[in-house]
Amino acid sequence: MDILEVSHITKAFGAKKVLNDLNFSVPEHSVFGFIGQNGAGKTTTMKMVLGLLESDKGEIFVNGEKVTFGQNNTNKYIGYLPDVPEFYGFMTPREYLSMCGQITGMHKEEIKEKSAELLKLVGLKAENKRIKGFSRGMKQRLGIAQALLNSPKLLICDEPTSALDPMGRKEILDILSSVKEHTTVIFSTHILSDVERICDRIAVLHKGKIALSGTLEEIKGIRNGDSIEIEFLTEQDTDTFWSIYSSGEKTGRTKLFFPKRTEHEMMEMMGCLSQNQIPVLRLERLEPTLEDLFLEVVGR
Ligand SMILES: Nc1ncnc2c1ncn2[C@@H]1O[C@H](COP(=O)(O)OP(=O)(O)OP(=O)(O)O)[C@@H](O)[C@H]1O
Ligand SMILES: [Mg+2]
Repeated sequence: MDILEVSHITKAFGAKKVLNDLNFSVPEHSVFGFIGQNGAGKTTTMKMVLGLLESDKGEIFVNGEKVTFGQNNTNKYIGYLPDVPEFYGFMTPREYLSMCGQITGMHKEEIKEKSAELLKLVGLKAENKRIKGFSRGMKQRLGIAQALLNSPKLLICDEPTSALDPMGRKEILDILSSVKEHTTVIFSTHILSDVERICDRIAVLHKGKIALSGTLEEIKGIRNGDSIEIEFLTEQDTDTFWSIYSSGEKTGRTKLFFPKRTEHEMMEMMGCLSQNQIPVLRLERLEPTLEDLFLEVVGR
């Protein structure tokens, strides 16, 4: 079942059309990467899913229930980590989670149990410092714990890793991929390597629409052909092969690069190497990265 369905959503701010007939859905128990450049409309979309912003047209369903602007009935299924989470600096993480639990009407025992479990999950179990002394990464981790407090079916994180260093990003990504058994995770980002690391499915938002979507494998498979890099033992061998396959690019003294070759062309090239008895040091097939695909989509 799809935990989230966004259907024909259109939104303009004044004369500026941000979303233009946006459609996508997110299946349960996946980690879904919502990718887009700055200003693409990621935060706008998320706020609509939460009923915090009104769309001009279209419908959104969370767990099969329709989202109504200004009402929070579907938010019981959702945990939300905003792009810039705000905390009370004078509280400790435990106090903060306790306050959040009380606001949402959780029982005392439940709050205690769940807080302990979540603080352990995000690596803040032993942290008794006040939040004002926290690093950005620690704040993001606490934000995830808070968003998971009511055991949501859907966890929405708006650029959870953007302001963090590689170490901090890895910690967040590890946490997000570890919770997918219990909850579906949607996170927005423009850091493509993060997406490649943990997402099952992705959607690229561009010019108000989904320009590209699917599983990571599907998306990489869209490209017709991978690139090949061949490294030879001698420059002479390199040039001999290059004289036969002159469409390649010489990228080093003994290196040739051939962009986008079909399976058949690759086989032919290997046949040619063996026929002409040209030894190779290395022959590598390079899969397109998400970055290549993204640039292809947004460059259109
Ligand atoms: N309340 C608002 N009033 C006017 N324009 C807005 C408002 N909110 C967003 N916008 C505009 O809508 C567009 C999309 O903004 P949004 O914040 O959704 O983008 P985003 O994809 O989240 O970008 P970022 O990666 O920078 O967070 C931007 O051009 C922004 O200026
Ligand atoms: Mg944003």
